[in-house]
Amino acid sequence: MFIEEERKEVMAYVEPIIREKIDTFLTPIDTIWQPSDLLPDTSHDTFHSDLKELQQGAEGLPYDLLVVLIGDTITEEALPTYSSWLSLVRGVGSYREGGWMKWVRHWSAEENRHGDLLNKYLYLCGRINTRMVEVSTQYLIADGFDLQTDHDPYRNFIYTSFQELATNISHRRVGSLAKKHGDMRLSRMCGMIASDETRHAKAYKYFFSKIIEVDPNGALVALEDMMRKKIVMPAHFLRELGGTTGKAFEHFSAAAQRLGVYTAADYVAIFKDLLKEWRLESLKHLSDEAERSRDYLFNLADRLAKVADRIKAPSLEYQFSWING
Ligand SMILES: [Fe+2]
Ligand SMILES: [Fe+2]
Repeated sequence: MFIEEERKEVMAYVEPIIREKIDTFLTPIDTIWQPSDLLPDTSHDTFHSDLKELQQGAEGLPYDLLVVLIGDTITEEALPTYSSWLSLVRGVGSYREGGWMKWVRHWSAEENRHGDLLNKYLYLCGRINTRMVEVSTQYLIADGFDLQTDHDPYRNFIYTSFQELATNISHRRVGSLAKKHGDMRLSRMCGMIASDETRHAKAYKYFFSKIIEVDPNGALVALEDMMRKKIVMPAHFLRELGGTTGKAFEHFSAAAQRLGVYTAADYVAIFKDLLKEWRLESLKHLSDEAERSRDYLFNLADRLAKVADRIKAPSLEYQFSWING
């Protein structure tokens, strides 16, 4: 059977499960937090004093932390890219009735609050060049990304499982650092976003576990392929006005490594977590090709763990157009 046909059959099995599980992994719209719950209310007479308090909180944020917060915000704001990419997954049902497309709509609706909240905070905080951040956001959406997942549901679920775990780590650590530097409001905001990302990670990991149940061989081969190509970050094309594609991402990533917000060790930890979560070690009756993939994956995890310990965070400081002064 051709891979395309196989994928169709597997998705026909997985889609009803996704539809049934949406409410387990996503919080109802009526009760979930909204950005305005965490920001000063412009219609309230305490707005000016609340704004002052927000800006005083942001005064102590170090340069690198502000850079990472802006990079994280722009990454969240490029949601149209992720939604359109996810809706191109092959072998799924209809837009209205299919479980996958229902998931994509509801997940996007939750995700939309992240960029919205962070964007409003940055606008109000008084420390950034808003226009330059907006230009980078527009560029990133226009440039898209190149994840090398094709439109394969297996590779998409692997990528999203990985990425939701990575964003959880990043937001959680930015939140802890914000607290350390006295910005309790930002710390709370990042904590709320991080907990959304945890639920999303659980969902994608669960969806892929259902694929493993019915096609362990195909799942292992797809995971090997993704790890060989390396999991790139969704904002890998990030740039600034007048800058080359991807250059701002390199500096953003360097700042994240210096702060310990997201490092090579985290990449390995996520990879190992997925190998364990999906119980790949205990899969039985695999094809020869899948056995080889599994060997490759476990060897790679050990190799990467050894290398990650030796990687030093880049020390080169860089002046972003996003930050005033
Ligand atoms: Fe998010
Ligand atoms: Fe998420």
